Amino acid sequence: MSMRLKTEEGIRLRGTFSVPGDKSISHRAVMFGSIAEGTTSIHGLLTGDDCLRTIDCFQKMGVQIERDGDYVEIRGKGIDGLQEPKEILDVRNSGTTIRLLLGILANAPFHACVIGDGSIAKRPMDRVVQPLLQMGAKIDGRENGRFTPLSIRGGTLTGIDYVSPVASAQVKSAVLLAGLRADGVTSVTEPQMSRDHTERMLRLFGCNVEEDGLKKTIKGNQSLRGTTIHVPGDVSSAAFFLVAGLIVPNSELTIQNVGINPTRTGIIEVLKEMGADILVEGKDDHSIEPVADITVKTSSLKGIEIGGDVIPRLIDEIPIIALAATQADGVTIIKDAAELKVKETNRIDTVVKELSKMGAQIEATDDGMKIYGPSKLRPATVNSHGDHRIGMMLAIASCLAKGETVIENNEAIGISFPRFFEQLKQLKHANT
Ligand code: S3P
Repeated sequence: MSMRLKTEEGIRLRGTFSVPGDKSISHRAVMFGSIAEGTTSIHGLLTGDDCLRTIDCFQKMGVQIERDGDYVEIRGKGIDGLQEPKEILDVRNSGTTIRLLLGILANAPFHACVIGDGSIAKRPMDRVVQPLLQMGAKIDGRENGRFTPLSIRGGTLTGIDYVSPVASAQVKSAVLLAGLRADGVTSVTEPQMSRDHTERMLRLFGCNVEEDGLKKTIKGNQSLRGTTIHVPGDVSSAAFFLVAGLIVPNSELTIQNVGINPTRTGIIEVLKEMGADILVEGKDDHSIEPVADITVKTSSLKGIEIGGDVIPRLIDEIPIIALAATQADGVTIIKDAAELKVKETNRIDTVVKELSKMGAQIEATDDGMKIYGPSKLRPATVNSHGDHRIGMMLAIASCLAKGETVIENNEAIGISFPRFFEQLKQLKHANT
């Protein structure tokens, strides 16, 4: 499918609104509820396709999950209550589903086959398969288990002290989840801090996870107790509108109830450094995940260098940061971000290719990109390449390009923000 977006001279963006639930937290809420004992109630679940895949996979293992809009109730029977699936577990486009699921399946004493779509088939699975094999899981798959389809038979595991070569919350989470039932102690050390939703949520479910800097440790033979979870708005979805409010002239946007877990807020720090007028207020620290309202006003931005420890804290926001950089004065260099190559698409290639079509001065580097701003964007026919974040970034770019922009494969946006286009339309106002 494709979407035509018309931009009139002088539109501005105005409004106060909220964005759908956090994708990372939604996946974990469903997974942990499914392996907990007792009832788990989830309020504000993201109902995008990725999280529906997670629900589907656990339903195929006999877990009773009922959904009414963004409210979900799960009747968990513990990890031992999972049943061998009769069908293949299909995660479609969802990297978080497959990688965390493998960690859980490593404990389950049965066989399961896991597949995904064409994008998942290109993404490396050995980063989770290797540590799980070391713990004693039996996993095989295409190219010796490097890629899907994968076949796994779990069982009795032994804890390991794993030093991960990548800062990846999916790897860390898979190993910690496998460690939940392993004999002994399991720890994961990362080169840099990745998002810590798993650690926070496991504690909410009654588990003990210890932290020593970049090392996270979990003791084996723990079980989870059902609980209630309120999912905050996804800062990664909010990011598209934060940047939109900064770069579209005469705009002011307030996004309410956004998750501001410090392992996710690199985008706010970087935008501030670029000169953004951005206000984070009403901070609520009472639940396991802090939330706040964020207001942005149109700002003059300047190019900066982005790299090092902040990268894992804004990895999913790099496409929209690249767009912000096209409107900033001077050069923006994004480095240390080679992980972009193994996301839903190779995001170095797709960002550079698609923004170039709209007139941006942008070039790919080995581990990121260089953007020369400011440049005037023009309408074009662009493509999401089936990557939700590329699609949304291009839709925001179209707000600066007077005329008609066509976004091909726009349906991918439903993965993390099902009502994205309606939301954008509501915020657009004529500049009268
Ligand atoms: C996620 C972790 C990140 C992120 C992805 C969601 C998670 O991936 O890019 O969108 O929910 O754990 P990596 O763990 O591969 O860095």
